[in-house]
Amino acid sequence: MIFDILTIFPEYFESPLRVGLLGKALKRGLLEVRLHNLRDFATDKHRTIDDKPFGGGEGMLFKPEPLYRALESLKAESPLPRVIYLSPQGRLLEHRLAQELAQEQRLVLLCGRYEGIDERIRAHFVDMELSIGDYVLFGGEAAALVVLEAVARWVPGVVGCEDSVRRDSFAEGLLKYPQYTRPRDFLGYRVPEVLLSGDHARVERWRREKSLEVTFDRRPDLLRTARLSPEDRALLQELFRRRVRLYLALIHYPVINKEGRKIASSFTNLDLHDIARLARTYGVRAYYLVQPLRDQRAIMEELLRFWLSGPGARHNPDRAEALKVVRLARSLEEVLAQIRSAEGEAPLLLATDARPRREALSYEEAARLVRSGRPILILLGTAWGLAPEVLDRADYFLEPLYGTLDAYNHLSVRAAASIILDRLLREFSGLGPNPSNSTRN
Ligand SMILES: C[S@@+](CC[C@H](N)C(=O)[O-])C[C@H]1O[C@@H](n2cnc3c(N)ncnc32)[C@H](O)[C@@H]1O
Repeated sequence: MIFDILTIFPEYFESPLRVGLLGKALKRGLLEVRLHNLRDFATDKHRTIDDKPFGGGEGMLFKPEPLYRALESLKAESPLPRVIYLSPQGRLLEHRLAQELAQEQRLVLLCGRYEGIDERIRAHFVDMELSIGDYVLFGGEAAALVVLEAVARWVPGVVGCEDSVRRDSFAEGLLKYPQYTRPRDFLGYRVPEVLLSGDHARVERWRREKSLEVTFDRRPDLLRTARLSPEDRALLQELFRRRVRLYLALIHYPVINKEGRKIASSFTNLDLHDIARLARTYGVRAYYLVQPLRDQRAIMEELLRFWLSGPGARHNPDRAEALKVVRLARSLEEVLAQIRSAEGEAPLLLATDARPRREALSYEEAARLVRSGRPILILLGTAWGLAPEVLDRADYFLEPLYGTLDAYNHLSVRAAASIILDRLLREFSGLGPNPSNSTRN
């Protein structure tokens, strides 16, 4: 495979191309890297390749003419290359793209400097814009090296043991398992016993489990596209059951009304059904309806009886299955006591509020908390929201959900709960045994 690197600093690449697997692959002719100095394509005696941007502003830009001449001359040679401009605005380089690029016979890697390159070159003479991450480098050279290494690993023969490439992080869609070498005991930290057992099947099983666990903890987003066997799914489900100890509480008292006064709100049948179905679908351990009013509780109990053991259960067992997660409680205290007794520890309280809070937790941080194994109770308000005395007890606030175009932001608690749970747990959607035939009404 041939890499043509177009740069104003060809010397930048000297030592990286001499060392390690890259150096060896170049010596053995498995790869060829040709360095081209952009200044060689300038026509004036100062070999000028940059100029000031039109319209003013900071920095300098690569002029179009030397770039054009360089690219045209490279394209005139065969095999026809794919021209890549390294740029923070490009598509993010990731494992699959590196593998795909390794199928090419020839790549041109154009390294920018200063403020970048003239837009007309980017728009009309480049096949692909590639970024190595959401940060800005001084120039494209370091990025070109990253692309070179990530792609070269997939060129047959470059990495001696191809198994190691195939088993690296991302290759099977998962992160790699932890590895250990001698000594067996390092400062009292011991190598896991199974790795010393000599039992290959056990070692392989342990590695797969660890791989799934590390991915679950650090990059659950990868699980959605990873190739998972039924055993993998069973393991992940087990991990989910152990780690995600999530509870919901829909508070009817104390909440506030339009005037900001503390009230008890009345129960809504839709909240009972829709949030129970949501909770059951997303693996929530229990959904509490907090309602101190006796007559309201009587209605709720009656409805639950109908669906759990009455005609509703016979007519629609799926609904009964969802409503099994529902618990009635008179107060938040009662909810906390029940969770403490089930979990052996108090849950962290995560409050939701439509008003922005300074210390709000992002959904990414909250999702990490949810996966951490701590019991968590998400507090949902009815009426005009949770009363200050409930908000004051919260350990964290979830970022409010915002609309798109203007300040209108009046979601039903059912809609808000759905969005919140999906944001917290979407990486795990479809972990079930057969996601394709489990969708209904
Ligand atoms: C200082 S940067 C220019 C940034 C540009 N003005 C912008 O704001 O998008 C100079 C050159 O570094 C390279 N570069 C910087 N960050 C990069 C990244 N994250 N991935 C790939 N190339 C990068 C590009 O070749 C770019 O033309």
